Amino acid sequence: MTTYDSIGVAYSYTRRPDPRVAVQIHEALGDAATVVNVGAGAGSYEPPQTMLAVEPSSVMISQRPAGSARALQASAESIPLADDSADAVMALLTVHHWTDLEAGIGELLRIARRRVVIFTWDQTTYRRFWLLDEYLPEAALFDDTRAVAVDRLAALLGGARIETVPIPHDCTDGFGAAFWRRPEAYLDPQVRAGISMLAQTGEEVLRPGLARLSDDLSSGLWHERHTDLLNRETLDVGYRLVIADL
Ligand SMILES: C[S@@+](CC[C@H](N)C(=O)[O-])C[C@H]1O[C@@H](n2cnc3c(N)ncnc32)[C@H](O)[C@@H]1O
Repeated sequence: MTTYDSIGVAYSYTRRPDPRVAVQIHEALGDAATVVNVGAGAGSYEPPQTMLAVEPSSVMISQRPAGSARALQASAESIPLADDSADAVMALLTVHHWTDLEAGIGELLRIARRRVVIFTWDQTTYRRFWLLDEYLPEAALFDDTRAVAVDRLAALLGGARIETVPIPHDCTDGFGAAFWRRPEAYLDPQVRAGISMLAQTGEEVLRPGLARLSDDLSSGLWHERHTDLLNRETLDVGYRLVIADL
């Protein structure tokens, strides 16, 4: 039983790949003719040239749409594939879940021929996000325990370039800060269930902060405090692509 066998049950309900984020990820993959997706989940952002998905949770594998790439049930730390199996390997919003980061990155480097693309976040920037800063500091503390520093990833990859991924105000992939301009969304239990930071922090712990958010939305205080966000189309909430050429 993996973590996502319990928290991933309704993943596809709120976690639909965002087309604008997809463009940036696909550009990062360059002209790779073959791609392996590690920590693939339900298959978000897999380009047509994806030859294989690697995913430990059977609950996540069961949510892969018909016609998506074959999934191998395995973990990043030990991938049963030969060296240089694909032109590019991608690992999206997954490295923070791995039990042995160094082993996992070692496996990405071993099975990729030319490029590794990792989608992750920078915790220093992310911590400034209003939800964590003003309402749910407990969730920020939880993320402190598992966030992987972008510099550390770049070092483990032997050098990498870092790209900011601006998040559109109507992002369709309901990850942690996707609802930066739609604060009411965080009051929806199904939205929270699709965000591992919130699902793993636990409803009991989040309750007081969510009650304050609800009050501030009813009184108009949230809107007063965040008028600067209301006309923005995109925001840097900390999401990053780490792109390594081998
Ligand atoms: C937030 S989901 C991301 C899924 C997908 N990449 C996406 O962008 O929608 C994190 C995924 O990492 C997987 N995962 C957790 N531990 C893992 C490990 N050790 N190796 C590979 N994947 C892992 C989870 O099962 C889950 O499917």
